[in-house]
Amino acid sequence: MSARVFIPKDSGALAVGAEEVATALAAAAKRKNVALDIVRTGSRGLYWLEPMIEVATPAGRIAYGPVTEGDVETLLAALPNGGPHPKRLGKPEDIPFLKRQTRLTFARCGIVDPLSIDDYKAHGGWRGLEKAVSLKPEAIVEEVVQSGLRGRGGAGFPTGIKWRTVLQAKGEPKYIVCNADEGDSGTFSDRMIMEGDPFVLIEGMAIAALATGATKGYVYIRSEYPHSVATMNEAVAIARRAGYLGPKVAGSARAFEIEIRMGAGAYVCGEETSLLESLEGKRGLVRAKPPLPAHQGLFGKPTVINNVISLASVPAILADGAAHYRDFGMGRSRGTMPIQLAGNVKHGGLFEAAFGLTLGELVDDIAGGTATGRPVRAVQVGGPLGAYFPRSLFDTPFDYEAFTAKNGLIGHGGVVVFDDTVDMARQARFAMEFCAIESCGKCTPCRIGSTRGVEVIDRIVRGENREANLALVKDLCNTLKFGSLCALGGFTPFPVMSALTHFPEDFGAGPRLAAAE
Ligand SMILES: Cc1cc2nc3c(=O)[nH]c(=O)nc-3n(C[C@H](O)[C@H](O)[C@H](O)COP(=O)(O)O)c2cc1C
Ligand code: SF4
Repeated sequence: MSARVFIPKDSGALAVGAEEVATALAAAAKRKNVALDIVRTGSRGLYWLEPMIEVATPAGRIAYGPVTEGDVETLLAALPNGGPHPKRLGKPEDIPFLKRQTRLTFARCGIVDPLSIDDYKAHGGWRGLEKAVSLKPEAIVEEVVQSGLRGRGGAGFPTGIKWRTVLQAKGEPKYIVCNADEGDSGTFSDRMIMEGDPFVLIEGMAIAALATGATKGYVYIRSEYPHSVATMNEAVAIARRAGYLGPKVAGSARAFEIEIRMGAGAYVCGEETSLLESLEGKRGLVRAKPPLPAHQGLFGKPTVINNVISLASVPAILADGAAHYRDFGMGRSRGTMPIQLAGNVKHGGLFEAAFGLTLGELVDDIAGGTATGRPVRAVQVGGPLGAYFPRSLFDTPFDYEAFTAKNGLIGHGGVVVFDDTVDMARQARFAMEFCAIESCGKCTPCRIGSTRGVEVIDRIVRGENREANLALVKDLCNTLKFGSLCALGGFTPFPVMSALTHFPEDFGAGPRLAAAE
């Protein structure tokens, strides 16, 4: 009998040689007449161990990693029985990084063959959609409201309330748009789920369609994710053939189709209204709100626009009930959050956990500190528009409100770690520069203010008129914060002011500034 060997095909694993390992292993097995059944999976999200390969044994799966082409010959002898090898890691679920997680949304990622609909079903897939088919739209919406799920794209808006608005909105057709632009620095959860468990996103979108009366869905995927685009296209075709999409969704009388679209390559195209413009074939320019996309979105019709993780979290909520999901978390942050540990960390990867872990636990304990071995100095949470937190804020729990109270944000759950060699004045300058480069140009504070911001920070760093220029940066940040049309300009003050507030020594010995209120 052949041994079943699982090798990730996720972009992160491919980047460190998973394809070469798979090819070399298949060739060596053929040469030596060892029967192997190689299954390509997504990643478990333990990126420092990739390529991490697993073999099914009667006692469960056994993992090995990080595997190189050079390991293949010796590994071949060990693999069929999960035997000893210097790269043997034991049972993946016993590796502390995985053991400490609560995987609700990522339950199947790295385990199943992403394009096997049978595998998906065997691991609990489609139960949420089958439940939704038996419910009235209002009842589906109510279940999502009760779960406490909030948008994982950044703003944290309650998903169920958004769906209710679309359900009650007049106008046809209605659309479900999945935001897979994933532009935040250090984030990769959307990509991982699309490449590792695409049917869960399709299922979540189909449930959203049944809940709101939408008949067409789009997944807007950033152009830097060619593997996600390919996997999603294949998965949509398979789901359609199996009757989960098309004229009768899961045997119901309801129709729903999904189309995959590739993004245009601008950070601002992740902003929902600019994304809709881009989907309509126009330049990614932010729209003024109101009208909300829920009332007049894609092509002027009622539209749900949700992040990948928001939608992929829904099947588990429907399948196991709102209360099960709501029971995880703290305060108004319910359920689990796929946290992405990145930057200068020893153990980078995807860590799905209930809200409430402190930043210190995540960085020092789970991520194991820095890869360089130097002290952690700053952590940017929530993407390029998130604040830089110093060690003194490491007791902040991972929770929307707790981060807001400290002038920060959790955004899409990206945690980027810097050691003590970081120059925070350069990081502040970079934030302004990023805003200047990525600005859609529609409003003056962002378009002009960010360019002036770069100039003023340069003057501070050169020691020119420091006090006056520090006051000017604060003033500029307030103008950006209160005068910008969208959060690109509106949130740029977070990284800039947090750098100035928590790391004033990097800007010379001037007076300390208060964080932008
Ligand atoms: C400049 C900017 C970039 C954004 N980029 C993304 C993104 O890449 N992915 C995403 O899901 N949301 C992004 N958002 C948030 C979206 O505007 C929107 O809030 C989100 O798609 C709503 O889905 P959710 O409620 O499920 O989070 C961005 C917002 C701004 C202002
Ligand atoms: S804040 Fe910037 S990105 Fe947003 S609408 Fe204004 S110019 Fe465009």
